[in-house]
Amino acid sequence: MASSPTAAPFAGKTFGVTVSNLTKLFAGVAVLKDISLEVRPGEIFCIMGPSGSGKSVLLKHIAGLETATSGEVRIGQFDAADPATREKVHLALVFQAGALFNSLTVYDNLALYPREHRLCNEAGIRERVMHALSILSLEKAAHKFPSELSGGMKKRVAIARALVMEPQLLLYDEPTSELDPVMGATISEIIATLRRQTAVTSIVVTHDRDLALSIADRIAIIMDGRIRATGRPDDFREPKDPQIANFLMPVIDLQNPRFKQLENNHE
Ligand SMILES: Nc1ncnc2c1ncn2[C@@H]1O[C@H](COP(=O)(O)OP(=O)(O)O)[C@@H](O)[C@H]1O
Ligand SMILES: [Mg+2]
Repeated sequence: MASSPTAAPFAGKTFGVTVSNLTKLFAGVAVLKDISLEVRPGEIFCIMGPSGSGKSVLLKHIAGLETATSGEVRIGQFDAADPATREKVHLALVFQAGALFNSLTVYDNLALYPREHRLCNEAGIRERVMHALSILSLEKAAHKFPSELSGGMKKRVAIARALVMEPQLLLYDEPTSELDPVMGATISEIIATLRRQTAVTSIVVTHDRDLALSIADRIAIIMDGRIRATGRPDDFREPKDPQIANFLMPVIDLQNPRFKQLENNHE
């Protein structure tokens, strides 16, 4: 049967994720400790926690880039650690630093995956790439190199590249890190809009409280490799657990020399 070159082979399907008793040791040191959580199909699920708490390692297990010491991750009914799962589930991971190829233009960065996987002919690839760029308002950047882009644009290109894969599961690692608050809000809006338009399950690792509280359906807080709490954003607006409160709303110490300096500058 002939199909149009731009047909979305996976459109309309998405998957939930189940993490069961996941433990990961690096050189004998546990960085994930008996993690269990369930992400429902179509949900925006934020994984929050301090730096070094295990967020990226957890996301890599979901993406099949790390193998568990014990326990398992399932994407729908498929084992995330099984390489064959990548043939069955279209999964896209938006890396923290964007992970763009500096020697390729934005256009070629986006075209790389469909070309390598021979998803369609060049005309079809062009249509896919330009469509993804237009969703992220990046058409004018198509022929620029990553070194010519601002930090916010690089993050948008990384998301556009994920969209070209027509993902059924979208994973983001710190999508707003190193961005100013306005660009951070723009990225939050994009993540929420994409989920609204495609209903794709979106797992967002972040330590950005504003991002998580504004877009998440549910949030898990991870501390020192363990799930400390899960709930809806409203459950975390006035957290009772002192450790969670301290992470989400650190008390600003006005005696800190840095703040003293700021005060002096305003005088
Ligand atoms: N490949 C690795 N080998 C050894 N230790 C690692 C590796 N990846 C991560 N770690 C350690 O695991 C812990 C959790 O890391 P990570 O998940 O990156 O934290 P974050 O919550 O900041 O994303 C850290 O102590 C980190 O140093
Ligand atoms: Mg990380």
